[in-house]
Formats: sequence, C-alpha cells, structure tokens
Amino acid sequence: MTDSNRRTNSGADVIELGRFQIDLGIRALHQGGQIVPLGSRAFEILAVLASAAGRIVTKSELMDAVWPKTVVDECNIHVQLSALRKALGADRGLIVTIPGRGYHLNQRPRAIRGAVADSRASLKPGLAVRDMELTGRDTAVGEIRTLLQTAHLLTLVGAGGIGKTSLAKEIARRVADGFSGTVCFVELATVSTHDAVLLKIAEACALRSPDAAIEITQFAAALSSKKMLLVLDNAEHVIDAVAWIVDGLIAACEHLRVLVTSREPLRIMGETIYKVEPLDVPTPGSTEDEILGCSAVRLFLLRANTLQRSRDVVGANVHLVGEVCRRLDGLPLAIELAASRVEALGLQQVHRYLNDRFSLLTGGYRTALPRHQTLRATFDWSFSLLNPASQLLFGRLAVFSGGFNFEAMCGVVCDENYAVADAISCINDLVAKSLVNVEFDGPVSLYRLSESTRAYALEKLLAEGEQKLIAVRHASYLSRCWHPQSTGRPSDPSGREADLNEWLENARSAFDWAFSAQGDVQVGVGLAASLAEVLLETGLIDECCMRAERAINSLNELRPASIDTRAEMRLLATLASALPYAGGHVSRPVEHRATIKARQSA
Ligand SMILES: Nc1ncnc2c1ncn2[C@@H]1O[C@H](COP(=O)(O)OP(=O)(O)OP(=O)(O)O)[C@@H](O)[C@H]1O
Ligand SMILES: [Mg+2]
Repeated sequence: MTDSNRRTNSGADVIELGRFQIDLGIRALHQGGQIVPLGSRAFEILAVLASAAGRIVTKSELMDAVWPKTVVDECNIHVQLSALRKALGADRGLIVTIPGRGYHLNQRPRAIRGAVADSRASLKPGLAVRDMELTGRDTAVGEIRTLLQTAHLLTLVGAGGIGKTSLAKEIARRVADGFSGTVCFVELATVSTHDAVLLKIAEACALRSPDAAIEITQFAAALSSKKMLLVLDNAEHVIDAVAWIVDGLIAACEHLRVLVTSREPLRIMGETIYKVEPLDVPTPGSTEDEILGCSAVRLFLLRANTLQRSRDVVGANVHLVGEVCRRLDGLPLAIELAASRVEALGLQQVHRYLNDRFSLLTGGYRTALPRHQTLRATFDWSFSLLNPASQLLFGRLAVFSGGFNFEAMCGVVCDENYAVADAISCINDLVAKSLVNVEFDGPVSLYRLSESTRAYALEKLLAEGEQKLIAVRHASYLSRCWHPQSTGRPSDPSGREADLNEWLENARSAFDWAFSAQGDVQVGVGLAASLAEVLLETGLIDECCMRAERAINSLNELRPASIDTRAEMRLLATLASALPYAGGHVSRPVEHRATIKARQSA
C-alpha cells in the first residue's frame, strides 16, 4: 500500500468496521482498545478491502497493492486471507469471496477521525510540540537524520548531560513533520524492569495491554506492518531489557526504525552508534570572535543572559566565559547550571568555584529529571550503574590528570587484588558507559577523563582511602618512564615512546601532589629529578628551575638517610645546567643545599 492510498477518500486515517477499528496511520487493527495481532500482508489486504468501501476488489488489484512490483503466486492471497479471517475470529464472515471476481466486505465500513486515532495523535508523550532551541547541533541533527534513513537501530551515546535526549527530541519533531509513519517517543528514566519497559513502550504506542505480561512476539506482530520511528529515551539503567526488546522488534518489523538514547550502547547486531560530542569550546589563546563562535559559549551566554542583570557582567568577560566553558568540557548540563549561578555570584566567582564544582553546580530546572538537578546527581546516576570492580577502577583513574594508555593504567591500578584481566574488562565498561573518553593514536588507545569526571572520580578515590597509595604508584610509574641516560622522550617500561605532553601533564600533577601537605617528598624526589630533566630537554627552562628548586628545598625536611642521593644529585645537576639559561644566577636552594651537603660530609 502506498502513502497516497493509506487514507480513505474522506481523508480519515481510521476506518470502523463492525466492532473493529482499522488504523491506517499506525497500521494496526484494534478491537475494544486492544491490538489484534496481524501480519503486515494480512493487514494490507484488510486495508485495501476497507478502503474500497464495499466495492469488489479483484485478485489482481490485491496482488498489486499488497505485493507491488513483485510476481507472487496467487495462493499467497489465500494464505493471507485465511490469517486475516482467523484474526477476525467470530467476525470472519466480514470478508466475502465472490468466486471468479474477487472479495468484498459484507459491512459498509465507516471512515472516522479520532477513535483509535486519538491515541495516535498523542503518540508522543514527553515530546512537547515546542521545546528549547538547540545550540550548536545542526550538523549532528543532519547526520543523525541521514543515518536514520538506512539504520534500523541508531543509538545516541554519550556522557550524562551531553544532550542526547535534547537531540533525540529534535530529531523526533523534525522527522514527525512530513513523516508518513508514526513517531512514538518513550521516556524510560522512570522504569526499572523488563516488563515495565515493555509496558511503557506498549502504552506509548497505543498498544495497550490490560496486564503487564505482554509478550514481545505479540508486540512485534502488532508493530510489524507499521511504519514507525520508535524513540526510546534514557535507556542505560534498563539496557539489557531494552536490548532484548529492540532486538526482537527490529527482527520482526520491516518498517520500524528505533532511535535510542543511552549513556551506553545496546551492543546488539545491527546497531549503529552515534557518539554525541560535547559542544565546542575555545582553545586557550582564542580571540574574542573565536570564543563567541563556540557553541558552548553561545549556550552559556544564552542561559546567563536570560537573567537580566548578568548581561553586562558576562559581556565584558568573554575570555573568562570561554575558560569556564572549557573547564566544563563543553557539557551542556554543566554549562546551564553554571550560567544560572552568574546572577547571584558573578562570573568571577563562578570561575573561581569551578575547583569546587559539585557545590557550585546545583539548582537545575525545577522541572528537570532529578539527575539533572545537580552535576553530582548526574555522575551519581552513572556511578551507581557500575559494578564494584569498575567503581574501584574509576576512582583510581582520578590520579591521571592527562591522557594515559593501557600500560600506564595497569602500571598504576593493578596489584595482587586487581589483575590485568579486571582492568581490561573494567576499562571497557567505563568507556562503554561514557565515563572515560578514548582516542586512538594509530594502534594505541589513549584514555582521558574530562575535568568534571576526574573531580567526581577523585571524591571516590578519597572515599576509598586510596589516594596516597595510588598517587605514590602514579609518581613511581612516571619516574620509571624516563631514563636519564637517554636523550629524547619518556617511554613506557615496554620501550614504546610515551606522548610527551600527556607525560608532562601527568608528571606535573604527580609532582604537585608529592610536594603538597598531603604528599610524600621521599617519593617525589625521584619524580622531580625525572621531570626536571625532561623539562630541561624540552627547553622549558624556567619551569625546570622552579620545580627543581622547590624539590631541593623540600629535601631539607627529610632525614639525610632517607634521601635518594642519586635523585638528589640528578636534581642538583639539572638545576645547575638550567640556571645559566635562566639568567645565570646561582639559586639559593642550590647554595643552601651545597652547604648542608658539605657539613654532612665534613
Ligand atoms: N544543544 C543544546 N542546546 C541547548 N541546551 C542543551 C543542548 N543540549 C543539552 N541541553 C540542555 O542540557 C541539559 C541536559 O541535556 P539532555 O537531557 O539532552 O542530556 P542527556 O545526554 O540526555 O543526559 P542523560 O544522560 O542524563 O540522559 C538539558 O537541560 C538540555 O536542555
Ligand atoms: Mg537523556
């Protein structure tokens, strides 16, 4: 049946036939508010007969309408008619065979609007006709729409609050305009069991069932003839149930397209994954125009400027806005929460309190999901869906301030109670659940936590009481990656060259921890020697001197016997080599330390 003849002459999309309603829009047969399971070909035959309004329909007409452009044996009609009569049950006599001529209905069907179609008109619960305007998603919307033309199952995957639901709603609205089928939007955030998911979908698709024990097969039969876009929103906490249901549905329903939003893919055959990226943020050193061109900044200004008095405050501080958006990783939810704080705190304070972002980023929209009320709640939601081994790994990964590869991860997180096999399965889990980002440098994967994710993970590491243990391992691992004799770059224990920038970023934070009040100077000396040497090699002279001096100063706090003399000598030598390029003065720490050493050896 083509789109043009899907409706009756009167334009109605529902036909009443005795105690049945034939919904030509969602292509379902209803009786007493219940779906009558019917295959797609059988439904087409009924629809053709009903649309003919009592006229006799010949076999060849039926063949053309039901199997267009296909040569099929006549007996197919008999098979489908028999299935149709079976579905009509006691009313099987509604279809009359006129030998040698064709078929007709013995009751005049009545074209109506409403009835079952009422439910069709409201087939988008949770999908407001109008919603907030999306910022910076034109390309994504275009790409997703293109993918949906061929993909039967498309999953929008990404971190919490990144904008998956917002995108899916926009897609659903746009597809609904001019779509000849039905768009059905199902919000799953509030359900938690397989049956509840199935029931929620059934209700949303107007396939109501009096009890929760609806079967997938029944369901698939009801949807099999329909052209429909089924949007399943917020699926990660019921991912198994959704995977099984969707698997069953797409296998049975030729015209069905399913769009899922989830922090984790369904991992079933036929799934196309679309990774939702953060909004774009300015790089350090961007011009004002470049900053204002970034979608994250536009969203921040849009939300902050809705608060009257903040307009001027924000307007004069574009660079600061850029920095706030960058430190919030372009995450729309975090940006909205931060912007809403500008009116009371001012941009400066918002920027300053990013170090305590979980206290700052609260007070979401009153009407938002509970997990969108605060930034912490959105992470809590993801964290609660991890198994204990993945939770442990997640906390331990907080020690990496820069990117890290698999080898570095194992070097830091594995021990006699946490095997490499655990690390493999758990990093896979964390990547899948959008808590850890992964990039590929050729065959090597590089993992990274966003700043907000790391801040949250750090809380978990502290709560486990493991911060010192893991920080010591991190510092030691980084030291082992640098071989003083070699000129060049740090390399993994396996000999593969490490990414210099990532090594430096990690080493700087390990150094800062080691020489902080909670740190461990003894562990830090070795790392400080390595870091100073790499900084000297790289030509970062001032930083080399500054860190070497700080480390040498701290040595005075230690008992002489506990000092790693070799590391100390390396530090002094590196500082001595760097100083001439930093202005040529002999620094106080070196002089001071030299005096102490002289005294000790006297
Ligand atoms: N492109 C955008 N433009 C404007 N606002 C956006 C955009 N994307 C997301 N938002 C806002 O950010 C918040 C979070 O978005 P959304 O609910 O779509 O995230 P999500 O990825 O579905 O999160 P979750 O994983 O928790 O389901 C919402 O308040 C939404 O309005
Ligand atoms: Mg969502």
